[in-house]
Amino acid sequence: MKLQNATLLITGANRGVGKAYVEEALARGAAKIYAAARDPETLGPVVALDPERVVPIRLDITDAAQIADAARTANDVTLLINNAGVLSFGGALDVAQSAIDRDMAVNHNGLRDMTRAFAPVIEVNGGGAVVNMLSLLSFLAAPGFSAYNASKAAAWSMAMSLRAYLRPRGVLVVNAFPGGIDTEMLAGIEGPKDTAQAVASAVLDGLEAGEEDVYPATAADVYAGWRADQKGLEAAFAAMM
Ligand SMILES: NC(=O)c1ccc[n+]([C@@H]2O[C@H](COP(=O)([O-])OP(=O)(O)OC[C@H]3O[C@@H](n4cnc5c(N)ncnc54)[C@H](OP(=O)(O)O)[C@@H]3O)[C@@H](O)[C@H]2O)c1
Repeated sequence: MKLQNATLLITGANRGVGKAYVEEALARGAAKIYAAARDPETLGPVVALDPERVVPIRLDITDAAQIADAARTANDVTLLINNAGVLSFGGALDVAQSAIDRDMAVNHNGLRDMTRAFAPVIEVNGGGAVVNMLSLLSFLAAPGFSAYNASKAAAWSMAMSLRAYLRPRGVLVVNAFPGGIDTEMLAGIEGPKDTAQAVASAVLDGLEAGEEDVYPATAADVYAGWRADQKGLEAAFAAMM
């Protein structure tokens, strides 16, 4: 699908990659962008990018009532970008259950519940797409991020199941698998990082080209390395604990 004249909703649009998606969608000629955030007050700078086309909306993706409200309000979308996410630190042997619950609630359950709520909207509007921000850590273990890792693996699995149901309904499910990105999520963590802009741009290029799986920016090289040598990559990531 094309961004030109599209109406879309982006979760976690107030900062990081979500804000970059808003900028990129505006540049590609989107007609209307529902910029969703838990606290709409934080959306001021995002709405200011283009007050005519950017519509702020309150949305915590772990809140069923807010999801239902969003689906009623944004009933003209043909593209949902499941971008919101959280990352809890902690190794597999000792990470707190509360951290696992939090990462699962947002990264897996939130993605699933948003897709369930918006798939019928997109279908009624003639079809479109759902873009999911997954991670290379959906299939590569970074043992120090074990809760996040598990939640992104679960989200990937759920997204593939959702795709099977949505493809025949005219809803393309695009799974994006970025590597490290320079946002607040990884603040304080050393290592190579792509810009949020580069990732948003590459994912939307993939969407516009009709690709189901996108490895944006430098993630493409890591993915190629993993395809060539899965055990080697597993060992390299394990060494980063
Ligand atoms: N940064 C990376 O290295 C990296 C790598 C691969 C994949 N990703 C994925 O890319 C996506 C964007 O991450 P980012 O780097 O932009 O992170 P970020 O800067 O930490 O932003 C996270 C966004 O998610 C929102 N959010 C968190 N919990 C939410 C909830 N319950 N309901 C609605 N929104 C919620 C945050 O809103 P608040 O401002 O209200 O907290 C914020 O807008 C995430 O899915 C992340 O897992 C990131």
